[in-house]
Amino acid sequence: MKDFLSILDFTTEEIFDLFDLADKLKYDSSKPLAGKTVAMIFQKPSLRTRVSFEVGVVQLGGHPISLAQESIGLGKRESVADVARVLSRYNDMIVARVFEHEILTEMAHYASVPVINALSDLSHPCQVLADAYTLRQHGKLFDGVKVVFVGDGNNVAYSWLELAMRLPIHFVLASPKGYEPNRDMLHKVQTSGVGKVELVHNPQAAVWDADVVYGDVWTSMGQEADNEKRKNDFAPYQINSELMGYAKPDAIFMHCLPAHRGEEVTDDVIDSPQSVVFDEAENRLHIQKAIMTKLVEHHYAPVFSSTPKAQTKAKKKR
Ligand code: CP
Ligand code: NVA
Repeated sequence: MKDFLSILDFTTEEIFDLFDLADKLKYDSSKPLAGKTVAMIFQKPSLRTRVSFEVGVVQLGGHPISLAQESIGLGKRESVADVARVLSRYNDMIVARVFEHEILTEMAHYASVPVINALSDLSHPCQVLADAYTLRQHGKLFDGVKVVFVGDGNNVAYSWLELAMRLPIHFVLASPKGYEPNRDMLHKVQTSGVGKVELVHNPQAAVWDADVVYGDVWTSMGQEADNEKRKNDFAPYQINSELMGYAKPDAIFMHCLPAHRGEEVTDDVIDSPQSVVFDEAENRLHIQKAIMTKLVEHHYAPVFSSTPKAQTKAKKKR
C-alpha cells in the first residue's frame, strides 16, 4: 500500500494498529518525518484538516507546505498528472482535498510518493478513522454498536460504509429519499460479512436505541447552489433533543464539523454532555500522525517496532 485514499486501504488489523500507534504518538518524541516535506493541496476550504495535518507534520519532525487551488490551479493551470510528478520530485508525501475523487486516483497513479485523501466528493477516510478512534476512546467500539448517521449519504457517510466493511458495526443511515448513498456500496457492505447496514427514511425509527448519533451538514462544500432545497428536504432530519431522546440514554453525539448550528443540529445537542465533537476534532491530529507514520514507514523505512532484519531489508530498498 502506497497511498491512503480509502479506509479499505487498511485491513482490520492495520486499523487497530493505527489506533495503538496514535496512542503511542501522543507521548512519543521520535520524528519519523525528520527532513521530510509534505505538500498539501486544498481545492476546498478547511479548518480541521489543514491545521491538524500541518501541526501533525511539524510534530513528526517534517515541514508542511499548504497549496491553495488558486495558487497552483490543479487541473487548470497544469494537469493533475504533472502536478503529481512535480510535487513528487520535491516532497515525500502529498495530502489533497479535492472535488472529484478521480483527481485523487490520478494523482496517486502519477505520484511516486504516498498520497492521502483529505476529503473528496466521494469520501473522507481520515475523518471516519478519527471517528472510529473516538468511539474507542468513549467505550463505544464494540461489536454491533449502533451508529446512526442522520443526514446526507455523501462523502462522510460513504467512509462510514467503508468502515462497516472493516469493523463489525451496525451502521444505520437516515436520509431523505434522493440522498441515499451509492446502492452498489450498500450492497458491498451487506455482503461483506463484517458490519451490518440499514437505510431508514424515518429519523425517529432510525435513531431508536442508538449508541451513537452522527450529524453532518445538509449542504456540503460545492453544493451551495442547492442550499434552499436541501434545507427544505432535510428539515425533518434535524438532530435536536427530541430526536436524541430516541437513542439510548448513554448515547454519544458525533459530528465531523463544521456544524451549521440551528440546521442539522441544535445547540442543546452539540453543547450537551453527550457531545464528543471536539474529541473527534482533536483525534484528527492523532490518527493522521499515525497514518503518515505508517505510510512513511512502508514507503521509506520502518520507524517503529521493526525487527533488525526488517530494518536491514528496508535500508536495502532505499
Ligand atoms: N471535518 C473536517 O474535515 O473539517 P474541515 O473541513 O474544517 O477540514
Ligand atoms: N460533507 C461535508 C463534510 C465536511 C467535513 C462536506 O463535504 O462539506
